[in-house]
Amino acid sequence: MGKLWKMVLVAGARPNFMKVAPLIRELRCHPDLFEPRLVHTGQHYDTEMSEIFFDELGLPQPDRFLGVGSGSHAEQTARIMVEFEKVCVEDRPDLVVVVGDVNSTMACAITAKKLGIAVAHVEAGLRSRDWTMPEEINRVVTDAVADLLFTTSRDADENLLKEGVAAERIHFVGNVMIDCLLALLPRAEGRGTFERFGVEPGGYATLTLHRPSNVDDPEVLEGIVEVLMEVSRGLPIVWPVHPRARKSLEAFRLAERVERCPGIRLAQPLGYLDMLALSRNARLILTDSGGLQEEATVLRVPCITLRNNTERPVTVECGCNRLAGNDPSRIRAAVLAALDSSGSSIGTPELWDGRAAERIVDVLKAFEPGDARTAEK
Ligand code: UD1
Repeated sequence: MGKLWKMVLVAGARPNFMKVAPLIRELRCHPDLFEPRLVHTGQHYDTEMSEIFFDELGLPQPDRFLGVGSGSHAEQTARIMVEFEKVCVEDRPDLVVVVGDVNSTMACAITAKKLGIAVAHVEAGLRSRDWTMPEEINRVVTDAVADLLFTTSRDADENLLKEGVAAERIHFVGNVMIDCLLALLPRAEGRGTFERFGVEPGGYATLTLHRPSNVDDPEVLEGIVEVLMEVSRGLPIVWPVHPRARKSLEAFRLAERVERCPGIRLAQPLGYLDMLALSRNARLILTDSGGLQEEATVLRVPCITLRNNTERPVTVECGCNRLAGNDPSRIRAAVLAALDSSGSSIGTPELWDGRAAERIVDVLKAFEPGDARTAEK
């Protein structure tokens, strides 16, 4: 890039903040080339789902806060688009950078591209091929409009190539979320987060649950909770509860049963450092999150994913992750198998080395917003 390019980075929901932080830090090392601005859509708004990450990750205060809040998918997506369009029209950025696969990612990518602004997608090309997942729709739509597609794994490149994305727009750079993890791990290591829950390092499991497919249906959630109460008799489980899961536990009258279970330690959603400390010292991670599957892999903690598929197959190939769906007998079997395994045989995916943001910025240095796709020949 030859002049000072105005860039807008979008963050909206919890899993976005740790991806945007390393990028902003790296872009700010080149003040003669880039003028990065941060837009927070407000998709997540609770202190423990948003603000705490700004402090811990050293993120600058957002230049714009759109305050869109919760709603149905259409309502939330539409509100983000309306508010983000105003930002784009007023600020006229040269490039909009979106990360991950949440509604804010897709809404801002579409809005920018329709205004003729170039779009970069960080964490492009991941595919679960599960169209019941809202994130799969967000991923496919975002990648379809993006001009620059930054990928975390080779399988993502292949997915994009199969969908007809031109090879020169795809850049395999590694994983910015792992940049964040590796940078903050030393600070997290000193925290005895596990002590707060009365468990020993290597002597507990960490659990997170928030996917609609697991928490929105009473029978499914009850099945998961019952098998986990059983598991917790042998291995205590620390469960920081996502607001969506908390609502369901209360609505389906499961909250009291879980609270009374001695092996399950419930917590509010944790900040980044506490969550990292808790994951690092766990014997096992049980999750339906995408990011945690990746973090478990780098931390070499065996992971059980409470889904039938994953858009992050590299975590399975590295020997960390097992897919167990939400059927209690499969979960029970996966726990037994994982407890039989050890973290030492888990491999680290290619380029998950803490330098992904650096590679992205190298690509951006060579990119001209005029290279954005216009009319194809
Ligand atoms: C969103 C993302 C999901 C991501 C997850 C991480 C989409 C489609 N989903 O799911 O990909 O893995 O974030 O957390 O973008 N709520 C609060 N406080 C908040 C935010 C939400 O109480 O700060 C409650 C609201 O009642 C809301 C519900 O949680 O209706 C769900 O929030 P929403 O942003 O719609 O989706 P998540 O399930 O968090």
